[in-house]
Amino acid sequence: MNQSDLDKSRFMRACRRQPTDATPIWLMRQAGRYMSEYRKLRESYGILDLIKTPELACEVTMQPINAFDLDAAIIFADILPPLEGMGLSLEFVKGEGPVIHNPVRTPADIDALRTPPPEESLSFTLEAIKLARRELDNRGLPLIGFSGAPFTLAAYAVEGGSSRNFRYAKSLMMADPVQWDGLMAKLSHVVGHYLLAQAQAGAQVLQLFDSWVGALSPEDYRRLVMPYSQKAIEIARAAGVPIIHFGTNTNGMLELIRDAGGDIIGVDWRIDLDVAWERLGDEVAIQGNLDPIALFAPWPELRQRAQAVLDQAGGRPGHIFNLGHGILPKTPGDHVRRLVDFVHEYTA
Ligand code: CP3
Repeated sequence: MNQSDLDKSRFMRACRRQPTDATPIWLMRQAGRYMSEYRKLRESYGILDLIKTPELACEVTMQPINAFDLDAAIIFADILPPLEGMGLSLEFVKGEGPVIHNPVRTPADIDALRTPPPEESLSFTLEAIKLARRELDNRGLPLIGFSGAPFTLAAYAVEGGSSRNFRYAKSLMMADPVQWDGLMAKLSHVVGHYLLAQAQAGAQVLQLFDSWVGALSPEDYRRLVMPYSQKAIEIARAAGVPIIHFGTNTNGMLELIRDAGGDIIGVDWRIDLDVAWERLGDEVAIQGNLDPIALFAPWPELRQRAQAVLDQAGGRPGHIFNLGHGILPKTPGDHVRRLVDFVHEYTA
């Protein structure tokens, strides 16, 4: 399959707000622990081993593609490895999630952060993209590359792991705008060039995950975060591929997220898809927004909820069906299969 055939794929057409034969669907975190094939590999390898071995990352990328009729693949990686290249020590601790052993807390810590080119610090993911593209080209499916957004990465870098209130990160942001600018400028540089390099390696679409941006007030987002997301997106734009800009809890700042950049805006279930679309306008496509918990409901209930999302999209070009956030461990694979097939059948 050549590039022009790929441009005609459902997913790529929807990214450009062109009509499709059926609504495309993929699921955030579609490769992962809910799949027995993934858990099997994890018996032998840690998550960072999987990410840093291109053959294995490619294999995991293909697992959900082989199991379900998804319309796009996402490269198997994580949002946190770019922080390792900047000098932070990252570990995934069983039962606890990601831990950064030397979190960024002082001006000297910020000064010490490096901004290496992605070819140097993240070559494993760029290699994995090249391998996955070879497999996906045969099937006519596009590959999504991704990065965490500057704020979400700053939250991990400063907190040193997952957090409920982001006390350290938001305190730094509020108390010391000059240091905050130093940190965010470095992150936006790293994020922008990482996205650009993924597209150059073969990713046909890029997604920016600003998973924790909903912790901010709209004014803080506008003044202290948006310029850096904008800068990262501006750098990535040079690749000329569609960019998905995703956040959760963005009800208070949806228009700002759009204005920060991106061709497709990802929304979660805390807003009705039609209301979100109304607010975003016709110049962007939209991705979302089924509650991931709906996949645990009995099939008739799940079906009805998926149908409600599709009815709100109302057949307008430019809808990419997805969950409102990542798919959860223990999600029944049979429900994933039925959801994917239902989205195609209902919209065909
Ligand atoms: O979508 C895909 O299939 C690609 C793979 C992918 C992973 N992480 C693999 C992963 C993607 C797109 C991510 C993004 C990511 N990582 C985000 C943004 C999306 C979101 O959910 O908000 C965030 C916040 C992270 C950080 C992260 N990685 C956390 C908090 C954790 C631990 C908790 C958890 O969800 O497991 C991870 C680990 C991780 N990343 C796993 C996978 C499959 C599970 C690790 C394991 O195998 O034990």
